[in-house]
Amino acid sequence: MRQIIIAGNWKMYKTVRDASEFLQEFLQHLEHTPEGREIVLCIPATSLWVISKSLHGSRIRLGAQNVHWEEEGAFTGEIAPGMLTEIGVRYVVVGHSERRQYFGETDETVNKRLIAAQKAGLKPILCVGETKAQRDSGETEKIIISQLEKGLPGVDLAQLVIAYEPIWAIGTGDTCEVKEANRVIGVIRSQLSNPDVPIQYGGSVKPNLIDEIMAQPEIDGVLVGGASLVPQDFARIVNYF
Ligand code: PGA
Repeated sequence: MRQIIIAGNWKMYKTVRDASEFLQEFLQHLEHTPEGREIVLCIPATSLWVISKSLHGSRIRLGAQNVHWEEEGAFTGEIAPGMLTEIGVRYVVVGHSERRQYFGETDETVNKRLIAAQKAGLKPILCVGETKAQRDSGETEKIIISQLEKGLPGVDLAQLVIAYEPIWAIGTGDTCEVKEANRVIGVIRSQLSNPDVPIQYGGSVKPNLIDEIMAQPEIDGVLVGGASLVPQDFARIVNYF
């Protein structure tokens, strides 16, 4: 059985105070959320420790947005896997397109981060996806298969989540047609030796689309940016159907 994982990615939004205010409201909406759904919030590093303490006993799992591959060292600005697990972080986003585009993340560094995260006991959410130009020139499958081939060697598929995030759909309001997202996620699954890896869709997921997205047979959850910043919106997404 594949796990359903609904994850919010706050990116570089919300101070500790904002995060606490969000939770006060959001937690009230989880009373009737069906048991089987894993709810993850990937929040800025500055809020992880405080929010981790306040989430004790709640069903929300905490996620970081990046992790380094070394256990410690002279790597200014980076965060080691053990620093995250020590404060109760369970998940980490790896290879988000914004990291690839603005911070020089490559398939090779993605691979190192995935392996190190798993070694420390974190469950990484690996992001893959094509640009608009790549889609228009019919390269979607080729790009994604290459990201998987280079990103996954040595990675334990039993401790992995994958998010299919077409780059042209991120933050644009331009959601990928759900049937097409379902199809590409099927292609991703066909590349994996373990059929139980949860595969999410990400890219302008909004409350009004969630029921249709989650009705797709290949889609095991969503990775949500903008709509995860608003308690009512993310609550509607988590409480789909
Ligand atoms: P979005 O972001 O929902 O704001 O498009 C998704 C993501 O970047 O993970």
